[in-house]
Amino acid sequence: MSKTYKIAVLPGDGTGPEVVREGVKVLESAARKFGFKLELTAYDFGGDRYLKTGEVLPDSAVGELRGFDAIFLGAIGHPDVKPGILEKGILLRLRFELDQYINLRPVKLYPGVDTPLKDKGPEQIDYVVVRENTGGLYTGTGGISMKDTPNEVAIQSMVYTRFQVDRCLRYAFEYAMKRNKRKTLALCGKTNVLTFVYDLWERAFHEMGAKAFPDVKREYYHVDATCMWMIKNPEWFDVIVTGNMFGDIITDLGAITQGGMGIAAGGNINPGGVSMFEPIGGSAPKYTGKNVINPLACVCAGAMMLETLGETAAAQAVEAGVMSVTPRLKGLGAGKMGFSTTEVGDMVAQSVAG
Ligand code: IPM
Ligand code: MN
Repeated sequence: MSKTYKIAVLPGDGTGPEVVREGVKVLESAARKFGFKLELTAYDFGGDRYLKTGEVLPDSAVGELRGFDAIFLGAIGHPDVKPGILEKGILLRLRFELDQYINLRPVKLYPGVDTPLKDKGPEQIDYVVVRENTGGLYTGTGGISMKDTPNEVAIQSMVYTRFQVDRCLRYAFEYAMKRNKRKTLALCGKTNVLTFVYDLWERAFHEMGAKAFPDVKREYYHVDATCMWMIKNPEWFDVIVTGNMFGDIITDLGAITQGGMGIAAGGNINPGGVSMFEPIGGSAPKYTGKNVINPLACVCAGAMMLETLGETAAAQAVEAGVMSVTPRLKGLGAGKMGFSTTEVGDMVAQSVAG
């Protein structure tokens, strides 16, 4: 009997549903080809539902989502909803409550894709950022007092426990081993200023590396320098591990070097639980319904999902499909591909079907 994966699909806002449709098309094509089944359950969480019902994410939903093998997410963010409500109420809440403590973000330039980096190509731009995903500044530890007075105080603390740091580092070391490219793990921190939090990261990094991963070469970069080298010498990087906030920032920088939001995908991973995969680009509301948005980031998120589910051959076929399509596109931006959203999805799906 063939294996069946239960997938929760959250198309979300704006162009989310359009890219998810193509992502699902490609996943179905992979399922047929590689002999597994997908049982999809759609949820309508997002801006429209919130505006209609006032509900962001019902409490029962989190429990329900725990029963799936994975979650496939389109985009969250609605022009008529105050920034933060949906992002915090859906995306961040799921990351935290499902304990998806890794945010895995490959930075890989595919063939035929333009990069703003001079004299760099697919050979030079191919690394992975392991972003810690449930701690740091994102815990919301802090508060505001004396609001709306001249003495108002706002505090938002970067909080890390040794446990959180260790489990993220372990994932990153293991990933560098499994990836088996240059077996180099770079810690991106700020030990010269954040002398508590990144001191903890740095000590934990070297202790774990020396003891459990002697074959992985360890490097350290401050976050500001990391930004510089990601532009000047991206070929230095193999796997980068970093805290939540720095990871958020450097992965947008990385994304633009790989062709932008049309192609960048991320996985919110709980290695022992339910993981969630998403294009990292956002809901791009002005392109909604026009069939011009690039679905490849969502397709790549689907490939990461297959990989995490253990369908490695299918994941590779989807990535190969994407790599066969990128050279045929005029560009990656919305409306700039020379093909519609649907056509690009069809092209990858056909390539996967072989
Ligand atoms: C990302 C996004 C989110 C984040 C936002 C939408 C809350 O920027 O996934 O990188 O900051 O993590
Ligand atoms: Mn971000």
